[in-house]
Amino acid sequence: MPASTGLRTFDIAPSRTTGETRSERTAQPRTLLQLTDPHLFADPQGQLLDVTTRRSFEAVLEFALVHSPPADALVLTGDLVHDESREGYRTLRRLLDRTGLPYYCIPGNHDSRPLMDELLGPAALGPVAARKLGGWNLVFLDSTEPGREGGRIGPARLAALRDAVAANPSPAVIFLHQHPIPVRSAWMDKLRVEDGDELIGICDRHPQVKALVCGHIHQEFEHRIEGCRVLGAPSTCVQFAPRQADFTIDTQEVPGYRELTLFADGVLETRVVRLDGYPERPSRTAGGY
Ligand SMILES: [Fe+2]
Repeated sequence: MPASTGLRTFDIAPSRTTGETRSERTAQPRTLLQLTDPHLFADPQGQLLDVTTRRSFEAVLEFALVHSPPADALVLTGDLVHDESREGYRTLRRLLDRTGLPYYCIPGNHDSRPLMDELLGPAALGPVAARKLGGWNLVFLDSTEPGREGGRIGPARLAALRDAVAANPSPAVIFLHQHPIPVRSAWMDKLRVEDGDELIGICDRHPQVKALVCGHIHQEFEHRIEGCRVLGAPSTCVQFAPRQADFTIDTQEVPGYRELTLFADGVLETRVVRLDGYPERPSRTAGGY
């Protein structure tokens, strides 16, 4: 656990401002691009299950910047660097800086929180942090614990999250790494947020929370609980096949990302976007990673 537990709120500077009046700008929807589970290595040729993760991450990033509406920020929901190397985080920072966009990173079970803090600076968020964007409250939650693959939030972070949500009636999105509810893959569901019910309870009690957005599952996922959607996204590298009892790679699906459009009236629109084909695919379907 990092030492800092304070909740800080900042405004994200809009990326589109020319010629707008204040009211027009306020009404303009905001776009976030979620890129998740890049699993980078120090070695630029490093592979996860036969996929060269830096190459696929760069391909997804480039595709997203061309094909999605101009983004206000990028959100990276964990498993950033697979070998927990300094060079891996330096590469990530270099690639993200090059976009000129604000970006926000939370850790996954394959990350080093101290290295994230050291090398990603203020973009490394957590344990609970909030940012404002176009009348929305973006909440970033570290759902990891050192040495555990599965997620656990624990009482302290749950209390901070409750405060972060309750303090702001604006529509909210919560980002975290592990999935808070089962996705119907038995092996993966053992690695979900252990106290996900507590998290869902917070969303139930605060209807301004419109979505919980996670990484970790390496597949598209959507489920609605009352007014709150639980959303998962494909990895920028290897995909896991949905609804499997045991670890199974999806050799057909290509890398992708999730686009989130936030409207001033609290409506959230979202879609998963995949690359137009991608030549490198995992060659095996089982095992582990
Ligand atoms: Fe991952």
